[in-house]
Amino acid sequence: MGEETTQRLFFALWPDDAVRKALEALALHRAGDQGKRTRTENLHITLAFLGSVDGRRRGCLEEAADELQGRSFTLSMDTLGWWPRPQVLWVGPTDIPAALLNLVSDLKLACQRCGFEPERRPYQAHLTLARKVRRARLPDSIEPIQWPISSFALVESKTLPTGAEYSVLRTWPLD
Ligand code: 2AM
Repeated sequence: MGEETTQRLFFALWPDDAVRKALEALALHRAGDQGKRTRTENLHITLAFLGSVDGRRRGCLEEAADELQGRSFTLSMDTLGWWPRPQVLWVGPTDIPAALLNLVSDLKLACQRCGFEPERRPYQAHLTLARKVRRARLPDSIEPIQWPISSFALVESKTLPTGAEYSVLRTWPLD
């Protein structure tokens, strides 16, 4: 019998090219050469992190996502933040739409039903712009990036010698 293969997976909001460009410009402007900027093609918001997933549980997750009835929403990415302990510089929305909270809680429930440990920390919608940022001077305000969201994605994370590489495996529409 062959070894069971697993993938490292998470559900995410995946920006389109226009939003990605705007996020890249923000990261360049705010992180500059401080720390390790997230590669432009990797910029995303995590909805639910799963870790290592085997084929059976991936099937369970995909079926649960098929059943989910999420609504579309727009995020106004208007807050820049810095967490000193993980040394992460991030951008996120001040206003969290109910549709985002519902989506996150539905996914959390789906993950639990498929046998994953629930995340205990409260959900914090954020997009990591850079890691290993040792100190940050945050502006009072930034020009918000409007991000219309009409789908969510199941993403695979691979750690290569050249760094993390993410690939979108499937997306589901939000109405
Ligand atoms: P981060 O950007 O705040 O580090 C892929 O690794 C994505 O999953 C990243 O967006 C990362 O969030 C998130 N992630 C990684 N490990 C996690 C964990 N143990 N719990 C929750 N989210 C995690």
